[in-house]
Amino acid sequence: MNYLEALSRRYSVKKFNHQVIPQETLYNILESGKLSASSLGLQPYKILVVESEAMKQKLIPAFYNPSQISTCSHLIVIISKKTIDESYIRGYFNHISEVRETSLEKLEPFKNSINQHIVQKTQDEIFNWAEKQSYIVLANLMYAAAIENIDSCPMEGFRQDIIEEILSINPETEKVTVTLALGYRSEEDYFQHMKKVRKPNEKLFKFM
Ligand SMILES: Cc1cc2nc3c(=O)[nH]c(=O)nc-3n(C[C@H](O)[C@H](O)[C@H](O)COP(=O)(O)O)c2cc1C
Repeated sequence: MNYLEALSRRYSVKKFNHQVIPQETLYNILESGKLSASSLGLQPYKILVVESEAMKQKLIPAFYNPSQISTCSHLIVIISKKTIDESYIRGYFNHISEVRETSLEKLEPFKNSINQHIVQKTQDEIFNWAEKQSYIVLANLMYAAAIENIDSCPMEGFRQDIIEEILSINPETEKVTVTLALGYRSEEDYFQHMKKVRKPNEKLFKFM
């Protein structure tokens, strides 16, 4: 499917039809999250994939509008890191060294500059920065889903404390930033027939 056709077909589904996404398609969509760009390559997030009915049921009370959770195939939960410490950065560089077969010594100047950059930031700044990276993952997952002809709904409308308790998130170090329900639109979901509301070009774009 042409990408503009896929993005025009995409809408935020309110009700799915319970059909389960084939494993291969799901992994293709997840791969797009994995391939997301992130600042300094640090990927300050985790991606939970809720596939069990039991866990979806458990999560229903956490959402203000749970119709997507009770009908979707999978629920993706993007968790942002609140802290980045030296051991996390060390782990990142060990990984680069392994994947690219480069010595740690060669990577040392890059590692020091990242350490310096991160150390200067307050915890709030780290967290704001981490959350921005999570939204890039969200956008890529939504886009890949649309190309795969899979419907979705991004959702921030959840109760933070409840979702984090159910998912055993440590609020000192992590935060559930945003979720994405995936599946197939229900024929009963009347939102699919509504026209898209977007700013006209002259209000949205400015050429200079
Ligand atoms: C970050 C983010 C959070 C959203 N949270 C919710 C939500 O909690 N519940 C919901 O039904 N829609 C949610 N939406 C969907 C928006 O309302 C929707 O994208 C917007 O109205 C445009 O409509 P469309 O996606 O159908 O084109 C969210 C969208 C984004 C990008």
